[in-house]
Amino acid sequence: MENSKISIQELQELLNEKQPVFILDIRPQQQWEEWRIADSFHKDAYTELNNGDKNILDDINAPRNVPIVTVCAAGRVSQIATGLLNEKGYEAYSLEGGMKAWNYAWNKAEYTLEHTDVKIIQVRRVAKGCLSYIIGSGGEAIVVDASLDPEVYLDIAKEHNWTIRYVMDTHIHADYIARTRELAAASRAKHMLINNAEVEYPYTSIENHQAICFGDAELRVLHTPGHTWESTSYLINDTALLSGDTLFIDGVGRPDLKADGEEVVRKAGSLFDSLQRILSLQPDTIVLPAHTAGAVPFDGKIIKQSLAALMTEIDLLSLEKEAFIEVSLHRIPPTPPNYLTIAALNKKGSYEGVIPADLEAGANRCAIG
Ligand SMILES: [Fe+2]
Repeated sequence: MENSKISIQELQELLNEKQPVFILDIRPQQQWEEWRIADSFHKDAYTELNNGDKNILDDINAPRNVPIVTVCAAGRVSQIATGLLNEKGYEAYSLEGGMKAWNYAWNKAEYTLEHTDVKIIQVRRVAKGCLSYIIGSGGEAIVVDASLDPEVYLDIAKEHNWTIRYVMDTHIHADYIARTRELAAASRAKHMLINNAEVEYPYTSIENHQAICFGDAELRVLHTPGHTWESTSYLINDTALLSGDTLFIDGVGRPDLKADGEEVVRKAGSLFDSLQRILSLQPDTIVLPAHTAGAVPFDGKIIKQSLAALMTEIDLLSLEKEAFIEVSLHRIPPTPPNYLTIAALNKKGSYEGVIPADLEAGANRCAIG
């Protein structure tokens, strides 16, 4: 922590170590509501700080013995806030790069399947709530929905003495730039994808119901179209389901992105059929989605829910097909920023010449609650 600044890695480390820190977000209200750091405090002081108001932070009720980290969108106005707080005798730091940089902060949580050595590690981009998975058994591993630098997954694999054998996505993502191709190149793992996926790069085709074995684990491919036509879920050892953007712990996938008119209705119907297939799995199946709504805390708790619990908690799951289509289409949230550009890059399998942070800022919006 130099020059009253703190890097993403340093703050990530403090939170991982459960060190006390008071995070003060000074962005405008709307930006705060859109996405934020878990357990942060908010004071809309952006305009006032920019206008040179020196008293705007006078009523901040922060503990004196805890460092303050100020946060804005890109790490500029937060420096003004830090200056004011330092003058008041606080130990304050500005988060370098602001939320735009925090987009790549991450943490992890683990879950071991009962009576096996199959370990599921959920790797979470904490700001956006993107969840990727590295699953290992008997010295081998697979990675699903990589959304961070390949080193993140390679380091986790190394820590566990795993060799990454296969990498795959649950679908062509529209809200972040997938890193699966990069990870395949860096790890020399086989890049797999459902056989009907419309992408412009080569991959090893997998089919509905196919089983892929690694260590003592078995991953079964379940084609679950609806959110997108190629959407695929992966069932691990008949126990845990990587449900992609088809089923979340608080909602279902949205069928409207990259489609309009009649096609949206067809996709909603297809999503209903896919959900019925998922609901026919064992009720104690653990659902592990590709996203969560809101900021992920540094609590080490894996984001999961049993299928039985979801059946009672998500009202859309108890509707008949026609009602499901009607209600889900009525609840569609605003479209995510830049989703067509991001989906096109993911289809191409390359983001050369593009700075991911410029496209990926903002909350995830793949769900209907
Ligand atoms: Fe998605």
